[in-house]
Amino acid sequence: MKRISIAIDGLSASGKSTLAHGLAKALNYLYIDTGAMYRAVTLFAIREKLVDREGNLDEEAMMEALPQVYLTFRFNPGSGRSEICLNGRNVEKEIRSHEVSRHVSVIAKMPAVREKLVRAQRRMGEMKGVVMDGRDIGTVVLPDAELKFFMTASMEARGKRRFLEMQRKGRAVTLDEIVENLGSRDLIDSTRDHSPLTQAEDAIVIDNSDLSIEEQFDHMMACVKQVLEG
Ligand code: CDP
Repeated sequence: MKRISIAIDGLSASGKSTLAHGLAKALNYLYIDTGAMYRAVTLFAIREKLVDREGNLDEEAMMEALPQVYLTFRFNPGSGRSEICLNGRNVEKEIRSHEVSRHVSVIAKMPAVREKLVRAQRRMGEMKGVVMDGRDIGTVVLPDAELKFFMTASMEARGKRRFLEMQRKGRAVTLDEIVENLGSRDLIDSTRDHSPLTQAEDAIVIDNSDLSIEEQFDHMMACVKQVLEG
């Protein structure tokens, strides 16, 4: 059976990782959450006090510290997912905090950070049979992916989804704070100089504001089948 690479890009909290994980599971492919990698570097920067509460980043110190950042994914049978480890320690929970979300886009803008992570992502994507989600997968990391999706949804839908997710996890953050964060990340991510969030020309756009997860999954699986049989 032919194996392909699937790239999923899109706006913050547009449901990329839920669908990417679902597709990878159904196809028995490897799922790589590249956002988790940028979030882990951000957690490192917060812990090392390279970024302050206002989001001012000491870029020079960050550059110097980058070789000390070692990222791996480890499968957790409990969650059924590959979870991110920062220097050998599982940080999957910590990287989803609102504090990390507040600073991640400023760190993800740094060319040195992107170069380091893109190199690792390309290596992981070398073998076919991979679903990777992020902002620059179809354009920069895996430009030759056989199938590319670009996911988008209204701010209202994305804000509500992320708010419910944070509530389920017992995190104290308001809907207004979440909407403010999604808006600011979308702006920084799509206007940065280095590999900004843009839709690849050959990407299939999915606006999922009014689609259920099942509807999206069925549509995306139909696209996969078409490529595999074509
Ligand atoms: O899950 P959510 O949509 O909130 O974001 P994420 O996929 O975890 O990504 C967090 C942040 O990492 C994004 O807002 C980007 O700033 C950055 N990122 C990136 O620059 N390039 C990627 N390939 C993936 C994430």
